[in-house]
Amino acid sequence: MTFKASIITLYPEMFPGSLGLSLAGNALEKDTWQLETTNLRDFGKGKHANVDDTPAGGGAGMVLRADVLAEAIDATVDKEDIRPRLLMSPRGKPLTQERVRELSQGGGVVIVCGRFEGVDERVIEERDLEEVSIGDYILSGGEPAAIILLDAIVRLLPGVMGNDESGETESFENGLLEHPPYTRPAEFEGKTIPEILTSGNHGKVDEWRKLQSLELTKSRRPDLLETQPGTPTHIMPALPVTDLLDGVAFYRDTLGFSCVFLDEGGTAVLQLGKVELHLWLSNDESWKSRDLNEKQIVSGAETFIAGTHSCRIEVNDVFALYEHYKKLRCLHPNAQAPEKKPWDATEFGILDPYGNLIIFFEWL
Ligand SMILES: C[S@@+](CC[C@H](N)C(=O)[O-])C[C@H]1O[C@@H](n2cnc3c(N)ncnc32)[C@H](O)[C@@H]1O
Repeated sequence: MTFKASIITLYPEMFPGSLGLSLAGNALEKDTWQLETTNLRDFGKGKHANVDDTPAGGGAGMVLRADVLAEAIDATVDKEDIRPRLLMSPRGKPLTQERVRELSQGGGVVIVCGRFEGVDERVIEERDLEEVSIGDYILSGGEPAAIILLDAIVRLLPGVMGNDESGETESFENGLLEHPPYTRPAEFEGKTIPEILTSGNHGKVDEWRKLQSLELTKSRRPDLLETQPGTPTHIMPALPVTDLLDGVAFYRDTLGFSCVFLDEGGTAVLQLGKVELHLWLSNDESWKSRDLNEKQIVSGAETFIAGTHSCRIEVNDVFALYEHYKKLRCLHPNAQAPEKKPWDATEFGILDPYGNLIIFFEWL
């Protein structure tokens, strides 16, 4: 079955564009995939075939009309057409290699290219459009985004790449970035190829590549590692409180956390941004007998003694948070303004009513 891409656009002349060259172009010529365009202008309204209008509620720019786009979609796809209907949109789910592979395994795609300030929301809902983003930046129209999406899909169609294996070992296919490649000359500006690659030992080469791939991913895209099986993804410190409801009230009303789980008999889960804390009911009040003003030396630095429990929360503007808490008058009398520490962090701490020390810090 030939993969069929139908593009709905105000600029059909932008296609096939770069898709008419190289791998995608050869595949198009061989009918491995087909491309058709629908010109939105053909469905425009009035003497000037208008496709856009001013935004309801006011504001800058124009909006693509729902009726115009709906008619263009209906003229392009019939009821039996089960191809996914995609709308290129910066508000969409970010495109991933996984989604690209899924799409390449279907019979084709219908792609709507947005323009202006966007598309009337009603047509997105009524024609079941899946919004797809190619990244966190704004293009002037959906056409270049559609070309990128199709380029990624077409190269995965059977027979398009000379060596099918090279598609499967590439970045993102196994959740990692690809290892660095080398080729001739053996020496370039004084730099040689890593010896292992010319050793002829395929086992060792594979091992080296896997390690490189992992190290590169760790340093450049640690977020990708979260999808590796067994990778810890989140930490939730558990702090003891002797009164659960009062504890929740302190973290909620004073520090701004939301309570997302509460079992009055024992535990509560609190959330602020990506941070989660677990409070658990304890009857140990021994920390109360300690002098919280007393100082001790920890790792060469002077700190206040708190209860036995503490946690460190990284924030993105420690000074702003300090000022915010200061305004709310919720800083502990011992709390000092954020200060630079020898371990390259600027931080301040507060004590909760149960002696738990919460340190907010920012790496320098
Ligand atoms: C100027 S943009 C509209 C942006 C819109 N006002 C917003 O802030 O979300 C016009 C069109 O370009 C396309 N576009 C822009 N950036 C995109 C991206 N990152 N991914 C996919 N499509 C994009 C969309 O089709 C969009 O409707």
